[in-house]
Amino acid sequence: MDKTYWNRKYTENSLTWDIGYASTPLREYFDGISNRDIRVLVPGAGNGYEAEYLHKAGFGNVFIIEISSAAIRNFRKRVPDFPSDRIIEGDFFEHKGKYDLIIEQTFFCSIERERRREYAKKMHDLLNAGGKLIGLLFNHEFDGTEPPFGGTKEEYETLFFPYFNLDIIETAYNSIKPRRGRELFLKFTVR
Ligand SMILES: C[S@@+](CC[C@H](N)C(=O)[O-])C[C@H]1O[C@@H](n2cnc3c(N)ncnc32)[C@H](O)[C@@H]1O
Repeated sequence: MDKTYWNRKYTENSLTWDIGYASTPLREYFDGISNRDIRVLVPGAGNGYEAEYLHKAGFGNVFIIEISSAAIRNFRKRVPDFPSDRIIEGDFFEHKGKYDLIIEQTFFCSIERERRREYAKKMHDLLNAGGKLIGLLFNHEFDGTEPPFGGTKEEYETLFFPYFNLDIIETAYNSIKPRRGRELFLKFTVR
């Protein structure tokens, strides 16, 4: 699943994961943040609804990193006033930077299972002291050899425990209907 794979998904408009807006659990979390100057990263942002929501809510330091140029084109077109220098076309695993908050929304489930440890460590390395990884992970297994790849709460706890304090990892109470009961809300603070 490289850049070509993801670009094809966007050009064929085969976006089974794309709900068209920032999901309720994330919106409610964002609404509760009072410091809107924090540095926020949305990796694997796709069409970027979370970044758009944060931008419109007055968060002044939101960045996206996305491997698909087609997804980035969609985002630029839909949110033309989003600062260009905060739209990064590239590979999350090669990205360098420091953030206070990183958002997970169907990015983890899109990467190969073998890279999960690398994902957890990379998230750790990209966060400032006290920084947080927040978002949603499927608590559900899917069939098939292509994303999404699911998982279990126990697997995620084992994976992230070496790098984070696992403040919250529980079934989201405010999921969108099609994902109700199938996703965990997580809030992890970097160790
Ligand atoms: C399942 S989609 C989710 C998109 C978006 N978060 C959403 O919920 O609509 C996964 C996204 O991650 C991007 N992606 C996959 N691997 C990536 C990588 N290594 N670095 C940056 N983006 C990546 C894909 O291009 C795709 O847009």
